[in-house]
Amino acid sequence: MKGPVVCRRHGLLRGAFEVPGDKSVSHRALLFSALASSPSKVRGLLEAEDVRATRRAVEALGAVVRDEGAFTVVEPPPRLVEPEDVIDCGNSGTSLRLLCGVCATVSGLSVLTGDASLRRRPVRRVLDPLWHMGAVLHARGSDRFAPIMVKGGALRGMRHVLEVASAQVKSALLLAGLFANGETTVVEPHRSRDHTERLLRAMGIDVREDGLAVTVTPGQPRGGTIEVPGDISSAAFFLCGAAALEGSEVTAHNVGLNPSRSGVLDVLERMGARVKVTNATEEGEPRGDVTVSAAGLRATTIDGALVPRLIDELPVIMVMATQAQGRTVIRDAQELRVKESDRLAVMGEALAGAGAKIELFQDGCAIEGPTPLRGVSVRTRLDHRVAMSMAVAQLLMAGDEVCLDDVACVDTSFPSFFSILDRLTGIAP
Ligand code: S3P
Repeated sequence: MKGPVVCRRHGLLRGAFEVPGDKSVSHRALLFSALASSPSKVRGLLEAEDVRATRRAVEALGAVVRDEGAFTVVEPPPRLVEPEDVIDCGNSGTSLRLLCGVCATVSGLSVLTGDASLRRRPVRRVLDPLWHMGAVLHARGSDRFAPIMVKGGALRGMRHVLEVASAQVKSALLLAGLFANGETTVVEPHRSRDHTERLLRAMGIDVREDGLAVTVTPGQPRGGTIEVPGDISSAAFFLCGAAALEGSEVTAHNVGLNPSRSGVLDVLERMGARVKVTNATEEGEPRGDVTVSAAGLRATTIDGALVPRLIDELPVIMVMATQAQGRTVIRDAQELRVKESDRLAVMGEALAGAGAKIELFQDGCAIEGPTPLRGVSVRTRLDHRVAMSMAVAQLLMAGDEVCLDDVACVDTSFPSFFSILDRLTGIAP
């Protein structure tokens, strides 16, 4: 869907839906398979723009990717080749950062870029440690922004301490570490999502965790079958919307329940929503069905180690907090300022425009509720999660409208979002 869209749905959220493939796991499935010693079959890969960017990138690096029924088959080249052209990561930060690590292992020159949103996001955090491992990297604006050029070569393993928890940076370094001389250790201030550790281990790599440190021993992953769970970050829009809208109940099928990602379920419970997990399985990435129904919500505090476990869900949690009794406080979330947009500023402006009582801090916000919301026009600034969060906010507006200036960004992670929203609100069968 392109161009401006006026949201004018009303009614409750009711029913069940299937969650499309997890974006983080989909990127990793393609990238790690391209580095492997034998072909892989991936089931449930997300079909969305961000993952298409990674698919094009691994093809540019010499892998062959084809769709075979429910599977995506990846045939890795004997070794990754120097790409013939610039690799365009579109809107995808995960593609850009992880590819820095991958391209550091490719002999030759790789150039990585992206759209206007991605070219504003910081990359130094990944460039600096890769320099120390022996790659040569340069980027625009004194090495701060894409485009990035990477000259790969012989790498040495090292120990690197991250200032902020980041699964993207951690993963880039662990991937480079696979082909380095000696072990690579990454230490984080809090644990970020651990999809890389789990998948590398499943592909035969020795990955050890010791508190907040992760160490990888060099080696080549072996291909296999990779199952991608549904994306809890996508499910969260409907789960949080249902929790905030009295009388609603939704069930998300096949949701990834990796504890490093499921903070939103803890927050829903803490705020008083009814949350039920059924059919949980622990094979590969944990997954299950999640049912959420509304109950009188109460405010909560979100900070510290919880933040990386729900970082991408904070925009819709902010929407939900407008309907909770009391003052919800979010702290330690300064990373929100360097996502696809400055999500604190953009969501703060959108929610204040809708009548929410919101105070912004450098690292978070406080939201006083419950407040009735009213119609608002929103500039989505190429940020899919802002667009989807404000489409959910519109359901809380007693018939008022939300005008989103551009919703093409939704296709980066969740192309079926509006059709599922129509179905759950009873507009479409
Ligand atoms: C991701 C890590 C997080 C998250 C992003 C996906 C990943 O970013 O916000 O949407 O797949 O590794 P950071 O690594 O910048 O925290």
